[in-house]
Amino acid sequence: MILSIEDLTVSHGENTIVDNVSLTIGKGEWVALVGQSGSGKTMLSQAVGQMLGPNLKASGSVVYQDQNLLQLSNQEIKQLRGKAISYIFQDYHGSFTPFMTISQHMDEYLQTHGVKGKAQRETMMREALLSVGLDDSFTKRYPFQLSGGQLQRASIAIALLLEPDVLIADEATTALDSVSAHRILTLLQELQQKTGCAILFITHDWRHVVRYADKIAVMKDGEIIETGSKQQLVNQPKHAYTRQLIQAAPTLPVRIQEASKS
Ligand SMILES: Nc1ncnc2c1ncn2[C@@H]1O[C@H](COP(=O)(O)OP(=O)(O)O)[C@@H](O)[C@H]1O
Ligand SMILES: [Mg+2]
Repeated sequence: MILSIEDLTVSHGENTIVDNVSLTIGKGEWVALVGQSGSGKTMLSQAVGQMLGPNLKASGSVVYQDQNLLQLSNQEIKQLRGKAISYIFQDYHGSFTPFMTISQHMDEYLQTHGVKGKAQRETMMREALLSVGLDDSFTKRYPFQLSGGQLQRASIAIALLLEPDVLIADEATTALDSVSAHRILTLLQELQQKTGCAILFITHDWRHVVRYADKIAVMKDGEIIETGSKQQLVNQPKHAYTRQLIQAAPTLPVRIQEASKS
């Protein structure tokens, strides 16, 4: 296992937002986390990298290489973020400052992570941008000089700069049109195969779940109510709520029949 979440609870004062959740993510595994909005998916994923807001508390453990990430100091978790765990978000605009070029963003990120040598940093930047389909000409551009899809790809390039072991994508494709979303997902799949990184993919879109996930975890009211391989969960959902979610997915019944025939 590359990441083991055990008995993770997130609370806000008296309120329990994520309730005693356990979930394991294997090396190179694509895990889809689904469930209606407000069920705690974002809070769960943010707790993993100590990204929670100031009034939220996390307890339990998130084990990565024999250490509990929840117990690391600010400084220690900062060092690990980007290397061990990297995030991409729906709102990629928030990752960019308008008056800095793409390469300035990337260079600052690499310097923060202690990558020495300008030449090495430049090579890493070029390779990361190329891997998301952006050529050299993009390095000198400002964020407003990129289309939405290109900027999202640049944010993914930054998230992948240090070849993280786990990539957490929180509704990263929700705001994109279906062609751009497909391009991003194919890209993540390629990178997953190339670098062996695991992906925790939070989505509402069952078409993406069916196409890309190895494993599915279903969240409801702060709890993970069902986890299983994609085949298991789609073809033989145990929980009534999982059945409901699947039935509500418009394009899915055809695929379930296809899958269950084989
Ligand atoms: N910063 C916050 N402080 C307190 N409660 C929050 C905060 N962010 C989200 N919540 C609450 O936590 C619950 C789970 O939210 P969230 O994890 O964002 O759900 P999801 O990502 O599944 O849509 C919701 O009830 C939401 O209102
Ligand atoms: Mg969310």
